[in-house]
Amino acid sequence: MRAVTCRRYGPPGVLRIENLPPPSPGPREIRVRVRATTVTSADARIRGFRCPPIFWLPMRLALGLRRPRRLVPGMEFAGVVDAVGDAVTRFEPGDRVFGLAAAGAQAEWLTVAEDSAVAWAPAGLTDTEAAALPFGALSALVFLRDIAGVVPGERILVTGAAGAVGVFAVQLGRHLGAEVDGVCGAANTDLVRSLGAAGVQDRAQWDPRREARRYDVILDTVGAIDPLQGRRLLAPRGRHVLLSFGAAGIGWMLATAPWPGRRVLCGHAGGGAADLRFLRDLAQSGIIRPVIDRVLPLEAVVEAHRHVDAGHKRGALVLTLAAGGVG
Ligand SMILES: NC(=O)c1ccc[n+]([C@@H]2O[C@H](COP(=O)([O-])OP(=O)(O)OC[C@H]3O[C@@H](n4cnc5c(N)ncnc54)[C@H](OP(=O)(O)O)[C@@H]3O)[C@@H](O)[C@H]2O)c1
Repeated sequence: MRAVTCRRYGPPGVLRIENLPPPSPGPREIRVRVRATTVTSADARIRGFRCPPIFWLPMRLALGLRRPRRLVPGMEFAGVVDAVGDAVTRFEPGDRVFGLAAAGAQAEWLTVAEDSAVAWAPAGLTDTEAAALPFGALSALVFLRDIAGVVPGERILVTGAAGAVGVFAVQLGRHLGAEVDGVCGAANTDLVRSLGAAGVQDRAQWDPRREARRYDVILDTVGAIDPLQGRRLLAPRGRHVLLSFGAAGIGWMLATAPWPGRRVLCGHAGGGAADLRFLRDLAQSGIIRPVIDRVLPLEAVVEAHRHVDAGHKRGALVLTLAAGGVG
């Protein structure tokens, strides 16, 4: 099968397209014929091994000390189940599915555990659209609902509002009953408004020090607001949630944790099959929709990573795979 491979950490040029044997599903696994996958900000980060110094050792231990432990990168996928293990009960060959894997999605075939973050694909969405949903939507859901604890009537500010996480944070924030404002590049203000943001700021013009509004939650996807500035923007029990953070962010979180007032929160997104099914139903109902920056063939993976590395991705960057037989 054709697969993207990453045999060492480095710039986009370390990625190759190779022919590998297709995987066979274990007893509780399904094999998916992948039709669409993506290059996420996390894929690019892992490839380049970009992380704050405090996480260097734990991340190397998790991802591979000298080289990536997982040869085939890629997290998001949409496709069709074409084989199932003996003990699988939830899926059968022919099911259209989508999901989020730890790695391995940038290949013609992928095996995943049936109880991992995989679900029937949303009816009415193409494979390209379905693949553009899990990473951003699961991250936004976990950060808003579980980490920030958003409740109806609150006011949220989302930075990086046009990115993969931001586009879903705006939509899910609204769905959770909050009023959402977004900060993004000038080219994306119409997009972010169309997703339901009440107020949209061009990040080149916006100065958080002059902002008069107060927020219950700042979902700071790109670390655009210093926690000290953030305190001024927060309502008395407001939460400044950092998706990208290092030692300083953790320090702020520990320092603000004992007090009931304004807090800084850091965390890592999770989300499993139940959350994915919840998001699938929202997408089917038209309550959330994926945003696609561009669609490229799998073979353009190096170009795709260069675009993601540039840091101005709008929603998801999808890679498509042509249909073919196992080989
Ligand atoms: N902790 C976790 O578990 C977790 C989970 C998911 C993501 N993340 C992190 O969250 C961040 C966003 O992820 P993503 O997938 O949404 O990224 P993405 O799709 O690459 O989008 C990033 C967005 O940020 C905007 N941007 C770039 N620089 C900015 C700045 N200085 N100020 C404001 N906006 C800026 C860009 O748009 P414009 O240039 O057009 O404004 C772009 O749309 C990444 O750092 C990722 O590692 C963390």
